[in-house]
Amino acid sequence: MNQEERIITGQEQAADIWQFSLRPRLLSEYIGQEQVKKNMAVFIKAAAERKEALDHVLLFGPPGLGKTTLANIIANELNVNIRITSGPAIERQGDLAAILTNLGDNDVLFIDEIHRLSKTVEEVLYSAMEDFALDIIIGKGPSARSVRLDLPKFTLIGATTRAGAIAAPLRDRFGVLCRLEFYQKQELKLIVTRAAEILGVAIDEGGADEIARRSRGTPRVANRLLKRVRDFAQVFGTNEINISVAKEALLRLEVDESGLDRNDKRILEAIVKIFGGGPVGIETIAAAVSEETDTIEDVYEPYLMQLGLLQRTPRGRMATCETYKYLGLPCPSKENENR
Ligand SMILES: Nc1ncnc2c1ncn2[C@@H]1O[C@H](COP(=O)(O)OP(=O)(O)OP(=O)(O)O)[C@@H](O)[C@H]1O
Ligand SMILES: [Mg+2]
Repeated sequence: MNQEERIITGQEQAADIWQFSLRPRLLSEYIGQEQVKKNMAVFIKAAAERKEALDHVLLFGPPGLGKTTLANIIANELNVNIRITSGPAIERQGDLAAILTNLGDNDVLFIDEIHRLSKTVEEVLYSAMEDFALDIIIGKGPSARSVRLDLPKFTLIGATTRAGAIAAPLRDRFGVLCRLEFYQKQELKLIVTRAAEILGVAIDEGGADEIARRSRGTPRVANRLLKRVRDFAQVFGTNEINISVAKEALLRLEVDESGLDRNDKRILEAIVKIFGGGPVGIETIAAAVSEETDTIEDVYEPYLMQLGLLQRTPRGRMATCETYKYLGLPCPSKENENR
């Protein structure tokens, strides 16, 4: 299914643009990810005290967990400029050279979807990250020569939904690796409550709890659900989002108690009913439910695994006892499961 139409996708949609106004600007306003925050605060302070550029940072984790937000906060806390681009947007070596030579000292360059950089661009990035220099080839054929261009000291912040897709030489050039985790329900409750305040929507404890529980551990989804539930509250004539409005709205939006929709269910059903519970390869699942393999891996799978509804094994994806329970089926015996 097109992720643009799916209310609970972690992936960014064109309509999410309003969420920019909800982005926290300071580390202290960034909710959750405690470990990452604590470490980041130290690295930022140390770099600022030395008046040096912060080490290069790689942020990874499923879509919508706050990688872009965190990159902006880091630049803001360092009090430097941030230049934002993405892997697919840098087509040629020259594009990257133009961006790098225009950076100021200690500035942040944020490259989103860094796993989608082309090989040739990536190679230029290596010397830029390591030596703060660019080796460019001028001319063609026998008269071609290489010139070295010095660059300002800068911090590269790379973001990716798939750390596994990053080549080792690139990954090794990042001094700081941060994995963002799905958020706890309590944290999402705080995020929803904060967003409601900014939007000027009244919400009570139960309402925030219900939205948080169905947000798939993802702030972007939490904000999106809040906005839709607000419409229902208004039309139902309740001036506050409470548990019953939230439940009714989310039922109509077809988001179930665990935050899954019929697309998630279709994947689980395929594994159980067509492939006997697995193990089954990701391509095979993708073909069975007519989805892109990448979409299954980036968007569906991380949260299904988080809930324990899907297992990744060397032989393929497998259903668990929980999957059967979720689908209202009896769990096959252990013997069967380990086939
Ligand atoms: N820790 C947080 N506290 C409060 N709000 C947050 C937090 N993290 C993210 N958000 C909210 O969630 C929205 C989505 O976050 P963001 O755009 O940073 O996600 P992302 O990880 O960059 O996603 P993608 O992988 O799609 O690029 C933000 O606009 C912000 O409002
Ligand atoms: Mg982003």
